Amino acid sequence: MISRPSSPPDHAARSIWRSADAVAVEIIDQTRLPHEYAVVRLRTLDEAALAIRSMQVRGAPLIGVTAAYGVWLALQTDSGDAALEAAVTLLAAQRPTAVNLRWALECMAHRLRPLAPSARTAAAAALADQLAEADLATNAAIGRHGLSLIATIAARKPAGSVVNILTHCNAGRLACVGWGTATAPIYRAHAEGLAVHVWVDETRPRNQGAALTAWELGRVGVPHTLIADNAGGHLMQQGLVDLVIVGTDRVAANGDVANKIGTYLKALAAHDCGVPFHVAMPTSTFDPTVADGASIPIEQRDAGELLTMTGRTAAGHLATVQIAPPTTPGRNDAFDVTPARLVRSLITEHGIVPATRAALAGLPRPQDI
Ligand code: MRU
Repeated sequence: MISRPSSPPDHAARSIWRSADAVAVEIIDQTRLPHEYAVVRLRTLDEAALAIRSMQVRGAPLIGVTAAYGVWLALQTDSGDAALEAAVTLLAAQRPTAVNLRWALECMAHRLRPLAPSARTAAAAALADQLAEADLATNAAIGRHGLSLIATIAARKPAGSVVNILTHCNAGRLACVGWGTATAPIYRAHAEGLAVHVWVDETRPRNQGAALTAWELGRVGVPHTLIADNAGGHLMQQGLVDLVIVGTDRVAANGDVANKIGTYLKALAAHDCGVPFHVAMPTSTFDPTVADGASIPIEQRDAGELLTMTGRTAAGHLATVQIAPPTTPGRNDAFDVTPARLVRSLITEHGIVPATRAALAGLPRPQDI
């Protein structure tokens, strides 16, 4: 792997792309943001798997697309049947909760298995490119539909008021190929001249809000304020939150929503305060095979993520510090489930639907490649 500096792109730009020499895939190393913008070149299956596991790439749609390119990288070395199946199995095992990972790999395997091995590598590159393009189109559509929710609230508020949106984790362009899911309506509203302001949950323990959402909103000038994870309920009680928009890693058949740990508490507070709680959901994140949220596997991560914090020192160096007694154990559930009854709507690429079994069953399945 090599890294080289590059100009940070804007919100519509990509978080992943094929290298100019057409043999590798390049990503933004999200473990180094916001302190350093570094592009990392992935050349092998193992490098793609590690990028997903180590969260150099993260966010449900982006890990799916990275895995698709990982299949292409694997086939460059061996395009036989066993190698294809081994690549799919390895990549799928890297993170358990986001169903997009499995979905993207199933798309790839389904299309590649019938081909002769000699035809597979070129086909895999084209298919991964198509998945990346589909993600951009999907998120742009989510932005168009979600804009109406923000515009409706803006129209109800006194002239000159700002619409305050709370979001959790990073369901932004960095979590996708571009635009983001939860951020797409925000970017769209900002571009159309609506006055928006985003409350950014820090999102302990990995701080995707502080490190990533704040970074990408700042790049394009969307007004935002970082808040402690525990502050959201208080701000809602004060009338300082007009709506919540979050992303999701998997939506069950009954409309239960898995997302970054802490999402459920925001949904409870929003429900209590009468604040609409919306979930941006590309249909590739809907999993009709799980009946309800209790059946969604929740990733357990290393407690070290909880027991330490990493940041930049005054001298400009990155440093990791311990924040608990050395003998204190930690438990690090990476996701939680918000019951469908707390979700006001799902913002999909096909429009806004309620989080109900019937509405979800009526949605088209994601665009096949
Ligand atoms: O652990 P992460 O950073 O991959 O978790 C990401 C989230 O929870 C996002 O909200 C979700 O993947 C939706 S991304 C559009």
